[in-house]
Amino acid sequence: MYIINSRLLALHFAHCTKLIKRKKKKNQTRGEKMAGLFEKQADDYLNARPTYPKEWYSKLAALTPRRNLAWDVGTGNGQAAIGVAEHFDQVIGTDLSEAQLQRAIPHPRVRYIHTPLTLTENDIVSKVGGEDSVDLVTVAQAVHWFDLPSFYSLVSRVLHKPGGLFAVWCYNDIEVSPAFDPIMKKFHDTTMPFWDPNVKYVFDGYKTLPFPFESVGLGSEGDPLALDIPKELSFEGFLRMVGSWSAVTTAKDQGVDLLNGKMVKEFENAWGGSNLVRSVAYKAFMLAGKVRL
Ligand SMILES: C[S@@+](CC[C@H](N)C(=O)[O-])C[C@H]1O[C@@H](n2cnc3c(N)ncnc32)[C@H](O)[C@@H]1O
Repeated sequence: MYIINSRLLALHFAHCTKLIKRKKKKNQTRGEKMAGLFEKQADDYLNARPTYPKEWYSKLAALTPRRNLAWDVGTGNGQAAIGVAEHFDQVIGTDLSEAQLQRAIPHPRVRYIHTPLTLTENDIVSKVGGEDSVDLVTVAQAVHWFDLPSFYSLVSRVLHKPGGLFAVWCYNDIEVSPAFDPIMKKFHDTTMPFWDPNVKYVFDGYKTLPFPFESVGLGSEGDPLALDIPKELSFEGFLRMVGSWSAVTTAKDQGVDLLNGKMVKEFENAWGGSNLVRSVAYKAFMLAGKVRL
């Protein structure tokens, strides 16, 4: 009898916890949802995501007359911040997710700052150095998560004028081989119901992303610059990369294992065996500009 009652009690509590969690989830703001997504995959993220070609940073630096301070927003583990730091005296990397920042790549010229949603716009301005202080703002694979009008107003406030530069980029497809790419496409199709709607900007290569800044020849609103990110990728690295997709995490939360054993096997065969390291290219898109004066 006692066992039955305690089981019932346990079931009841489990049910209540589920309801509370569901209610909490329902009341979550968009930003909280985003932070949650990236907290869960923070470990995979560091190991799986690409850093960006050095030439991108030289090009951006060449277009920035003063190079005292840069701000990398949605820095994650500092994937872009450490590249920017090769050209700027000081870089501030900020992120909503503490878990991502805890795994950030240390660099003597990069300072990572947690920017929770409770901070006001003025708080952020002063944390990154004040109005008119930042020479380059970068956002790598993240701006599509932001509330664009308020973020763009923030960027316009902190950028040094004239001269300060703002650059955003994303990557979507990965090109591996004629045998592998159709399998990837099939897998990608299965993830579609689980993406946040704003990821549509990434799928269209930032073609529809609003970007009201003065073009500097590295992509402009409606016409992003197409670039490749070459990478030597192991099969394990590939699996970690797709495993770090927010849609895969969301699906898992809903009880759907998109990256299941059968899928992994199919990927492995098309890859050419799990020990093979392949030269792949991520398809990337950049928009860069200055504040219109
Ligand atoms: C896909 S990751 C990109 C990380 C890194 N920049 C890179 O290139 O790999 C997106 C990052 O944006 C952060 N993020 C999402 N919304 C944010 C916001 N409103 N403010 C600051 N960071 C945000 C997430 O926590 C996550 O670390």
